[in-house]
Amino acid sequence: MRILFIGDIFGRPGRNIVKDRLPSLVKDHSIDLIIANGENSAAGFGITPQLAEELFELGIDVLTSGNHIWDKREIVDFFHMADGNPHSPSRRLLRPANYAVDLPGHGVYEGRKGDVEYAVINLQGRVFMSANDDPFRKTDQLLKDIRSKVVLVDIHAEATSEKISLGWYLDGKVTAVVGTHTHVPTADERVLPNGTAYITDVGMTGPFDGVIGVKKEIVMGKFLNNMPVRFEAASGDVRLCAVVIDCDEKTGRARSIERLMVGERG
Ligand SMILES: [Fe+2]
Ligand SMILES: [Fe+2]
Repeated sequence: MRILFIGDIFGRPGRNIVKDRLPSLVKDHSIDLIIANGENSAAGFGITPQLAEELFELGIDVLTSGNHIWDKREIVDFFHMADGNPHSPSRRLLRPANYAVDLPGHGVYEGRKGDVEYAVINLQGRVFMSANDDPFRKTDQLLKDIRSKVVLVDIHAEATSEKISLGWYLDGKVTAVVGTHTHVPTADERVLPNGTAYITDVGMTGPFDGVIGVKKEIVMGKFLNNMPVRFEAASGDVRLCAVVIDCDEKTGRARSIERLMVGERG
């Protein structure tokens, strides 16, 4: 099975480049399963039900998220729409699994693509982020109930050390551990010794002529003046950051991980 994982989709520029480039990426890399982090789809802050539906219509199978998931309040009702329907679009949008258990939404999705069963786990880190449950032990607990051999983990976290530690911790237990949240891709993709594909951060899918997606003048001003400001999405130099993971669907072991960064024209 070949999995495409797309890093944090940021605003309209991010959504548009996914729309434009996804068909050729799927064809060129013989992709079977598409997963994307959509936490910044709505002008950088959260995701609306409509935007989630639009991304699913492009062929994305599962959307993960992170700390921005509650930015658009209507997402709570969207999560409730999945109650009782295990494969609806609203059930295929995840929030981190290690949030308080009684919050709306789910942190794990198990589905099937052709003959292959797969699972996606969404986690959030705890270093320089809000105090959630332990993502390490949470994953152990979740894996007890997961039947699929192919399991992808999105660890949405700030600290590289926390993400690398989780990669080693889960080596041999899951197919891939991919990092999101910093919006800056790292060049450390590799398959760990026991068969888990790993990258510390996939990077952002959105405008790079800014500061992690936001207009650079606004963020520079924030650093210079420390005054409250309203963030606005940048628009230029749009790129799509992703990884392609090739795995043996019988064992769940990864064979390779390849990092991609494509612009609007190639
Ligand atoms: Fe993000
Ligand atoms: Fe984030």
